[in-house]
Amino acid sequence: MHFNLKINPAKDELNFKKDSALVKFFIESKKLEKTLENFFLSLNYSLGKIQKKNFLDKKSNELTYYSQSGEPSVLYIKKVKIDKDFFVDFFRNYFAGLVPSLKKKNLNSVHVVVPSFFDFKDHFENESQLLRSMLEGIHLGNYTFDNYKSDKEKPAELSFFIHYTDQKILGSTIDHSNKLMDAVYFTRDLVNEPAITLTPEELANRTKKELTKLGVKVSVFDKTELKKRKMNAILAVGGASDKSPYLITMHYKPLGKAKRKIALVGKGVCYDSGGLSIKPTSSMLEMKADMAGGGAVVGIIKAAAMMKLPVEIIGVIPAVENMINGSAYKPGDVVKAASGKTIEVKDTDAEGRIVLADALHYASQQKPDEIINFATLTGAVVVALGEIAAGLFTNDDRLADELLQSGKTTHERLWRLPFWRDYNDMIKSDIADISNLGPRWGGAITAGKFLENFVDEKIPWAHIDFAGPAIKHKSNNYTEKYDTGFGVRLIIEYLSKI
Ligand code: BES
Ligand code: ZN
Ligand code: ZN
Repeated sequence: MHFNLKINPAKDELNFKKDSALVKFFIESKKLEKTLENFFLSLNYSLGKIQKKNFLDKKSNELTYYSQSGEPSVLYIKKVKIDKDFFVDFFRNYFAGLVPSLKKKNLNSVHVVVPSFFDFKDHFENESQLLRSMLEGIHLGNYTFDNYKSDKEKPAELSFFIHYTDQKILGSTIDHSNKLMDAVYFTRDLVNEPAITLTPEELANRTKKELTKLGVKVSVFDKTELKKRKMNAILAVGGASDKSPYLITMHYKPLGKAKRKIALVGKGVCYDSGGLSIKPTSSMLEMKADMAGGGAVVGIIKAAAMMKLPVEIIGVIPAVENMINGSAYKPGDVVKAASGKTIEVKDTDAEGRIVLADALHYASQQKPDEIINFATLTGAVVVALGEIAAGLFTNDDRLADELLQSGKTTHERLWRLPFWRDYNDMIKSDIADISNLGPRWGGAITAGKFLENFVDEKIPWAHIDFAGPAIKHKSNNYTEKYDTGFGVRLIIEYLSKI
């Protein structure tokens, strides 16, 4: 179950109704005992001795106080320690954990007192960023993917009232994060949707339906069109499924003059069985999410269009299923990509780079100022970085710096890996221009190097391999149950700074 959430700026002093909760943060300091006491006095509540002792003695960082008669009926008290361990995800993660815990509590409203920005100025760039981390946490914690649950309850209504001194910043930040989170939800729905439903065609249809509403032009190349355009790489990978392959392209143009033209390319493998180089079942389990790159591209363009960002964006998604039948492409095959380069297929499970070859070539032909691509490309990047960061590969330092900074700001973190030319030699082929498989070591980097072959070298380009963080993982409260929608918040932050 999730809530029908409404997030409102609170205009008055704290003014509670029945069945409301209050969330209040206390900064750990010598004066904590007195401040806590005064706070409880102001509400006419009295805190039990043991509870108070535990809270003050650092035995617990949080405290839930249920009132029998007064309002608010529940207090959530959270201690914040602002030291070197404090990080920008603190509030996001806290609210993402709090929201699901409010189920069955019969609350109508939750009042949140935002702590003073002054105390956090070393950790957040500005007030809006602090506020955003809270609002995003509320939304992210409320996300569920329960379409297929038979016994789900009707969503309950829940209003959040945010108390903050600067109404103007608060209002615009609430508006911003509502739009952003709407797009993140859209991406998460796409990525979490099982492959039995989210076929390449369905991905194209949902993209078209969602983005055309917002004035974005969406074109879908079918098999005939792909053949005409010599996109044999996409055709080879997508050739062994009953579900046809497509290339989905999107074009968002702002009303005024665009400050930059950016191409976003996302791997759209709606299911990756590995093909003839078949995966074991355990590795296949998550492979409905192998289109997370494409999902991120759709979400980013949706958010950009809703926010009317002044950048022109071209989106490109090769949408296929990597399956097996009599037409399957085979280890040993040579495929001629749209750019004219030939690829020796050494492993049909390294299919992402093959479909992206045609997509990146197409993107380059649109002459954008820069290209960013997203893909759940390799297990190797997860071996290198774990699930909490995505690998960033680029030879453009400006792009790298700005993307890394956006990663820090949004806590969708990137880590730059080497991209030296030495790695090029590792994917040479004896019979074709390039091989789709490198040696055992450095697999995330050689995969990136493969892609580089299909990008116009004059265009600044960054490759983001998010096989770890895009897929559900246990690192925090908003990533553990469902695929995460990684990339949307990151790139909207990057684009907003242009
Ligand atoms: N889709 C996978 C990569 C992946 C792995 C995504 C784990 C998410 C979680 C990709 O197509 C793949 O199978 N890569 C192979 C490449 C290898 C054959 C060179 C891999 O990583 O094992
Ligand atoms: Zn694969
Ligand atoms: Zn794959």
